[in-house]
Amino acid sequence: MSTKILTKPRGTRDMLPDEMEARREIETRLRECARTFGYREVATPAFEETELFTIRSGEGIISEMYAFEDKGNRSISLRPELTAPVLRMYVNEGRSLVKPVKWCYFGDCFRYERPQKGRYRQFWQFGAELIDADSALADAEIIMLAYELLKAAGVTFTLKIGDLACMRTLLSETSAEVQAAVRQALDKRDSDKAAMLLTENGHEHLVKPLLALTKATTLPEIFAIIGDIPQRERIEEMCQILDAAGVAYELSPAIARGLDYYVGVVFEAFAEGLGAENQIMGGGAYRLAHLFGGEDTPSVGFAIGFDRIMVALSNTQIITPRPQISIIYLPQTRDAAVRTAAMLRMLGICVDLDLTGRSFSAQMKNAGKIADAAIIIGKKEVEEDIVTVKNLKTGDQVQWSLSALPEQIIEFLKHNECKKQNIKSLQ
Ligand code: HAM
Repeated sequence: MSTKILTKPRGTRDMLPDEMEARREIETRLRECARTFGYREVATPAFEETELFTIRSGEGIISEMYAFEDKGNRSISLRPELTAPVLRMYVNEGRSLVKPVKWCYFGDCFRYERPQKGRYRQFWQFGAELIDADSALADAEIIMLAYELLKAAGVTFTLKIGDLACMRTLLSETSAEVQAAVRQALDKRDSDKAAMLLTENGHEHLVKPLLALTKATTLPEIFAIIGDIPQRERIEEMCQILDAAGVAYELSPAIARGLDYYVGVVFEAFAEGLGAENQIMGGGAYRLAHLFGGEDTPSVGFAIGFDRIMVALSNTQIITPRPQISIIYLPQTRDAAVRTAAMLRMLGICVDLDLTGRSFSAQMKNAGKIADAAIIIGKKEVEEDIVTVKNLKTGDQVQWSLSALPEQIIEFLKHNECKKQNIKSLQ
């Protein structure tokens, strides 16, 4: 037998019950919020043909993915995100769908990254895609959804909105390579590097307006720098709608977004206290359907980094602890104990029953650790059709007839605080 202790792969995490319960609670809040906007959940495979991800971003992206050849020599990748898979599905299902399509999803993604706090190799995204609606209201609605989801999750965040048209207009005289490099530097929030790139490539006169644009926070300021662009009316209308809806946001024309399929409005949200990996949501308008064999379709969407949300909430009590009952029994009263457990579970009550043949007193000791009340089913109880119920916090003991047990136990649980479950730091 090997003495080596096997551990999880780098960049992945195990999740214990407290953490899983907290995650499920937040997931439920997100799903319910998305439903109020009419977004219905979809799912796609965890792996896809590698081409789905390289077709827009180029082969370079392979170094950041879990890409491999399967046994049939197909080039396969674990999905690094869900927008491309969802758009592939949209193209595959296309004709029968009612437009515009409003879909949301929750799934794990895989990126071959250098792991650190808030950055993992397997992580979960909750996202939404609005496909085939092209208007200021469509852009505003998807931003409103992202905003409401983050609020529903309970995180404190700042929402920043920009439009790629601003930077593109400013850099229109530069080559595609320079634009891409500047965009990359801005995505890493490194405006010094962006300025250096412009200077090195003979566009020194653009450095001042670029730096001014990265600092501009109002629409008049932005358009004073870049002039009157065709997208102006739409951007202004979107902002008007967001203002009317009471969405709190900052304009940030320097948002560049890491993925290169975006075309218009782009937005990101940042949470406090997360360190370098504080971006908890990112999205924007994009076009992908035509690359996958469909029609050129305007789309807009976003994804929330679910794990980062959980890190941001790690000092918050998320779940309401569920009370638990332990049934204490003797070998000869086992069947009565099993019947009582089944009856209480039908009522939705969480019941623990010893499975290891512990003695009566050992069962009682264990109940003290995990339960709020013990239901004792001994010989006398079975003979008299009663149960003895012990409040494990106060030590108080009462006897109820078996027929009154369901009603009495529900009352009891209502009036007795249950054991506090501590949500450990989710890191
Ligand atoms: P993204 O900005 O690459 O966009 O990822 C969205 C969010 O996922 C990020 O804001 C971040 O919170 C989280 N995230 C990314 N990488 C990691 C990681 N290694 N560990 C933990 N969390 C991570 C997209 O994926 C686009 N598909 C969003 C979108 C949807 N655009 C249009 N529709």
